[in-house]
Amino acid sequence: MTATGSSQPAISVQELVKRYRKATRNAVDGISFEVGTGDFFVLLGPNGAGKTTTISILTTTLSPTGGRALIGGRDIVAEASAVRREVGIIFQKPSLDQNLTGEENVRFHAVLYGLYPWAPSWRLMPAAYRAQVEGLAGLLGVGEEIFAPVRTYSGGMRRKLEIVRSLLHRPRVLFLDEPTAGLDAPTRRTLWDYLARVRRESGTTVFLTTHYLEEAEGADHVCVIDHGRVVAAGSPAELKAELTHETLIVDAASADRATLRAELGGLGLAAEGDGPFTLPVGGDRTHAVLRSIATPLTLVRTSAPTLEDAYLEIVGRSAADGEDDGTAGDAGEAGGSAPNAGPSAGAGSEGSARA
Ligand SMILES: Nc1ncnc2c1ncn2[C@@H]1O[C@H](COP(=O)(O)OP(=O)(O)OP(=O)(O)O)[C@@H](O)[C@H]1O
Ligand SMILES: [Mg+2]
Repeated sequence: MTATGSSQPAISVQELVKRYRKATRNAVDGISFEVGTGDFFVLLGPNGAGKTTTISILTTTLSPTGGRALIGGRDIVAEASAVRREVGIIFQKPSLDQNLTGEENVRFHAVLYGLYPWAPSWRLMPAAYRAQVEGLAGLLGVGEEIFAPVRTYSGGMRRKLEIVRSLLHRPRVLFLDEPTAGLDAPTRRTLWDYLARVRRESGTTVFLTTHYLEEAEGADHVCVIDHGRVVAAGSPAELKAELTHETLIVDAASADRATLRAELGGLGLAAEGDGPFTLPVGGDRTHAVLRSIATPLTLVRTSAPTLEDAYLEIVGRSAADGEDDGTAGDAGEAGGSAPNAGPSAGAGSEGSARA
């Protein structure tokens, strides 16, 4: 549910930079993106990509080195205390007090936020507080356990309690830093369902980080970062179109391989290795390329990577490249243009020619 009419995005990040003291490179290196109000946004990236750093800056616990960011139109540096009231955060590392009950953890948070006056027991807390906690606990499927010490909770239960707690001050944006890390598959699924419900019922914008590609599937918008830079962005469908490039694989008899390689070079297709040759060609170009090859072919195959393959490839490539100034127009790099998903040249682009 993207609020298209709303004047400003829930989050706007412009050229954000963070360099930790004594570090030799930027942990966040000039990233920009926007998150629409009520959207489910996923920041996807491998270990060390800069996800926690970004979340820490956006929730005002870390100051940026450069660039700027706005939450609900408010500057995270100049209006930090206003921003703090707008955001809820669930840290990568659990932040509950083990020896207190779930409810006591929630109560401390409420008092710290100045939402309710302190009372030494649940029963003495204002009725409004009790109603709110019961409502949130119900939404997340938390029952009487809320009155048990947190040390007796399972990992999934702790995460749920952290969500209850983070929603208490009715944040407009909820940040979750790898909330499913360490949880088993069914618990992850349940947590997912709860988050969807929270979004539906409170219109909260959800900003989540993960390094699991599959967790980005349900997002409205995904931003992939690596080494502090945005390497891909879009809806899951757009990412798929942008990242998964078909390739054409051809080969010739060993006596003809040199000729084939030269011919491919002449077509502007640099072919590496000694064959089979993998060419960054897909869709309607496949047929044109095959028609232009005169060398007898012994193998013709097309291959389309999965989104997972594509993700691993971009993440792996930028890890290998380190600093890449983008001169070498690599295969797979999506040339910066918007995904031109115009299937105009319809014709079942299957390049299934025979030698
Ligand atoms: N306090 C710090 N001081 C110095 N360098 C740091 C600090 N925190 C993080 N870094 C570095 O900044 C980079 C980004 O780290 P960050 O924790 O933001 O990554 P991440 O995407 O959250 O990774 P993960 O998936 O492992 O949680 C890493 O190279 C990390 O080593
Ligand atoms: Mg992290």
